This record gives sequence, C-alpha cells and structure tokens, in this order.
Amino acid sequence: MVDVILGLQWGDEGKGKIVDFFAKDYDLIARFQGGPNAGHTLYVNDKKVVLHQIPSGVFHTDTINLIGNGVVLDPITLKRECDTVASFGIDIRKNLFIAERTHLILPTHRALDKAAELSKGNQKIGSTLKGIGPTYMDKTGRNGLRVGDLLDKNFTSAYIKLRLKHQRLLDNFNFQEDITAWEEEFFETLEFLKTLNIVNGEYFINNHIKAGKKVLAEGAQGSMLDIDFGTFPYVTSSSTISAGVCSGLGVAPQQIRDVIGISKAYCTRVGSGPFPTELDNEIGEALRKTGNEFGATTGRPRRCGWIDLVALQFACMINGVTKIVMTKADVLDTFKELQVCTAYKVNGEETREIPFQMDRQKPEPVYESFAGWNMETSAAKLYADLPETMKTYVNFINQYLGVNIEFISNGPGREQIVQVK
Ligand code: GDP
Ligand code: IMO
Ligand code: MG
Repeated sequence: MVDVILGLQWGDEGKGKIVDFFAKDYDLIARFQGGPNAGHTLYVNDKKVVLHQIPSGVFHTDTINLIGNGVVLDPITLKRECDTVASFGIDIRKNLFIAERTHLILPTHRALDKAAELSKGNQKIGSTLKGIGPTYMDKTGRNGLRVGDLLDKNFTSAYIKLRLKHQRLLDNFNFQEDITAWEEEFFETLEFLKTLNIVNGEYFINNHIKAGKKVLAEGAQGSMLDIDFGTFPYVTSSSTISAGVCSGLGVAPQQIRDVIGISKAYCTRVGSGPFPTELDNEIGEALRKTGNEFGATTGRPRRCGWIDLVALQFACMINGVTKIVMTKADVLDTFKELQVCTAYKVNGEETREIPFQMDRQKPEPVYESFAGWNMETSAAKLYADLPETMKTYVNFINQYLGVNIEFISNGPGREQIVQVK
C-alpha cells in the first residue's frame, strides 16, 4: 500500500513539514521525482532543516527512506545533506537507500542549466540552476549516467564522453565559467556515494509492499509545475503528479491508496510564468512578509496571491486527490478580507477550466470575498478552537473541490496541525 503526498500549487506548499508529521505512520518514505531544486523545510527539536535530496522522513529512526529512480541526484548536495542529517545523530547507512536507476546530475548539467537560462533573456524559466532540465534531457535522450553505473569499471570513460558532448554545447552558448572545482568535488563525493546503500529500487519497494509495509511517496515541486500539465514552458522537467509515483518508483497504480494534496491557504510561485491570482501590491507584500515567503533553495522572494480554486480543482482532477491538507492558515490571521478565485475570465468568457496557454490567454481571476478571522490561530490544537470564519472558508473550498480539507496546518512546527472533525 502506497499513499502519496504532493503539492497542488506551484511548489513550497509545506510538503516537507507534512511528510515529517505523517512519517511516524509509515515504514518507508520515498521521493519519486525532482532533485535538489526542491527545498523541503522541517523542524527537528526546534531546529530548522531544509532537505533537497533526502526524503523528509529521515529524522524518524523507525522509518527508512528511498531516493527513487525518478529522482535526479546531485552527489555534492547529497553529501552535504548527509552530513547535516548525521549531526542530528541519524545513521544514514541504516535508513537511507538509493535506487541504482537514479540519474546523476553532473557539474556540466548545472553549467548547461545556467547557460540555457542566460540565453533565454527575459523569457527565462527562473530555474533553480541545479541542473534539473539538462539531466532529465539526458535521461530521455538516453545519454545520462545513473547511480548504478558508478560501480562499473567504464564509468570514467562514459563520463568523459558525455562531458565532451556537454562541452560542445557549452561552447555554443559561449559559456566561459571554469567548472574544475565543481568537478573535483563531484568526483570526491562519488566516492562517498559509493559507500551508501545502493539498491534495486523497484524490488526494494515492492518487497516492502508485499511484506505489508506502509509506504509514503513524497512529491517535490507542485502540480502546476508538472512537465505535462503545468504552465509549460514555465515548469520543471519531471512528472510531479501522482502518475509520476508509478514510473518514479516502479510501483503499480493499484498499489496507490490515498493521494494527499497539499495547498497553502493562499498561493505562491517562485520563478517566471503565469500566476493569475498574483497580487503585485501591498497585500501580496503582506503575505510575503507574514508567510516569510522566500525560497528554501534559492532565497528568492516568492510571488504571492490569493488561493486559486480553478487551478486547485484541476490539480485534484489530474492527481485523484482523496484528502487535502491546508497549510499556512495562520498566515491569514491578520487579513480583514480574503478573496478566493472561483473562475477565470478568458476573452470575456467565464470558465472554470485551465486554458491551454495561460501566458498567452492571460486569464483574469473572478473572486468571491470572505471575511477574515482577525485572531491568532497558531496555538489552536483542536478544530473547535478555530474561528467560525475560518471554517466557512474551509467549507467553501471543500464544496467547490469536492474533496475535503482534513488537516489545517497553523504554524511551521511539527505539532502545529489541527485535524478537521
Ligand atoms: P515544501 O517545499 O513544500 O516542503 O515547502 P517549503 O519548505 O519550501 O516552504 C514552506 C515554508 O512554510 C517553510 O518555511 C515551512 O517551515 C513553512 N510552513 C509550513 N507549514 C506552515 C504553516 O502551517 N504555517 C506557517 N506559518 N509556516 C509553515
Ligand atoms: P519544492 O519541492 C517551488 C520552479 C523554479 C522554476 C521552475 C523550473 O520545494 O516545492 P527547475 O530548477 O526545476 O528547472 O526550475 O520550477 N521550482 C520550484 N518552485 N518549489 C520547488 O520545489 C521548485 N522546484 C523548482 O523556481 O520556476
Ligand atoms: Mg520548497
């Protein structure tokens, strides 16, 4: 049995915190896509930790963690992260496993990411520059190197061959940066990577499922950044939706039980691309300040706006969401009035569907207003403690989406979460 936790918006919904919260109920937590472009924040003994490559269950000693084949892996980031995790007394060799089919991010992939973004000028994607796009291009182009290849005696020659190809591309971009230091660090960390548990991910996970173990698949990014269904081309390069769990881990669709979608009580986006409910004004500024909306990976200010039910309904549809967790409800505590986007206006017509090319069709949001609750909610432990105005907001969203918000997160701390009853 596999449950899935994934983002329903443009990423940073609070997946890390929620995975960490639910992890105690699972035996195995597995990342199925994305790479170090992800930044998943959680608090361990009141200390903030941001995970990029390692699943967010890693601080629970009874749970094991798998980096699945659908992930792209930067060994340099992984090594740094393993050191951080080890400083909390976690034995990485006991509870972290890496699928041998996982593709490696090479230093030249990072350089290519940077070169490609620079060449796009004001049409840039706003990539995290972690090498994600070029690594997935080499995967689908059937050139990439995988973790399992490290154990092959021909690894270095395969690396040199691929590097040469990348160098030609970099020359075309007229990319001048010296990457020797990155390469040195890369080769050093490969030695470290070889000492970790490298497994056949698909047998590993299916054997656990067969033995009756509970698996939680942890998504990165969000549904609106999905390579197929997101706001293309302003997306990431992987399948961020529930279907990605099957190909990113090697589990069959019948094994998937709950798809738990995470949404903020409002909406954010980092990087370029359409964002219909964006507030480029003092309200957006207030959301950014109160919500501390700065990227966990890049530190960039996140764009902020009202919750978008058209996009959320679309995300619920393509993922088969069975439950929703609404995060950062406390961030709305001081807002007198809240807006909820219930439709788009495209060419003068109202629609509840996502248009093909949002950046060209420029949908205008149609809003319904709700009273804010104007009280502090971050100390609430029970649903009964929450204000009626918040419940009205939650019930409206439930009805619109046809899926229920089952938990409300009211602060960044592990215990700051209220079950809806
Ligand atoms: P992820 O990428 O989906 O894991 O989310 P990030 O970690 O990038 O961003 C979420 C941010 O919101 C982090 O700084 C979290 O500590 C914080 N956070 C998560 N849940 C809540 C919440 O309910 N309230 C508040 N105020 N902060 C939250
Ligand atoms: P988590 O898992 C928010 C965005 C980037 C950019 C686009 C493509 O923390 O939610 P990429 O580096 O993948 O080529 O960037 O996707 N992006 C994210 N935005 N949260 C993330 O991950 C993101 N990962 C990538 O800002 O717009
Ligand atoms: Mg994040």
